[in-house]
Amino acid sequence: MDPAHQNELKRNAGYHAAGMVEDGMIVGLGTGSTVFFAMERLGERIARDGLSIAGVPTSYQAAIRARRYGIPLTSLDEHPDLDIAIDGADQADPDLHLIKGRGAALLREKCVCDAARTVYIVVDPTKMVETLNAPVPVEVLPFASSPVSRRLAALGASPALREGTKKDGPVITDNGNFIIDCDFGTITDPESLETAIAAIPGALECGLFSVYKEKITVIVGEEKGCRVVSLH
Ligand code: A5P
Repeated sequence: MDPAHQNELKRNAGYHAAGMVEDGMIVGLGTGSTVFFAMERLGERIARDGLSIAGVPTSYQAAIRARRYGIPLTSLDEHPDLDIAIDGADQADPDLHLIKGRGAALLREKCVCDAARTVYIVVDPTKMVETLNAPVPVEVLPFASSPVSRRLAALGASPALREGTKKDGPVITDNGNFIIDCDFGTITDPESLETAIAAIPGALECGLFSVYKEKITVIVGEEKGCRVVSLH
């Protein structure tokens, strides 16, 4: 898809999600290029309409961008219950299972998703698939990266330590850990796979989001507006 056109679709999704935010809400702010559009719109609503909200950022990137848009920030410590979260995804299937973590923010994103009453996932149509099949990022304690990698391979993955660009060696997450990208091919049972990965000591979190389907609404940006997908 032409990148300029894709950005238009992302903007439609992001703006729609920003429209769901109400005065006084505490808002989880996801990471990635689609959420930027939601933040842009929230910044406009704050400046123009006096919308009063606070955001919990899921990464340094989200925090930096939120400050640029004039969105006041808070933390999960101060607000362990979030009214809403807006985040992106790398893939979503019709049952609203997600793969996240291209931007290595999956650990905090899952904490925010768990804390939120309602979660809006903003995507362009290229993210919608019948069955998940993208590599699953796993955030790993550096101390245990080799044994974790072996355990992931035993689950059927081709594990690859994520390497930096403009930085030699592994990507270091905002939490000081490594990312191992795990190609499992087609994922027919995301719940079982997520549970199996969670049982590996040193695997801190994985990019499969399979247990939040009931509170997730996926907003797919389209030519004119967006398509809203939810199970309720
Ligand atoms: C960040 O680690 C990811 O989970 C993002 O939410 C995801 O990669 C979506 O990013 P884009 O909106 O840039 O595609």
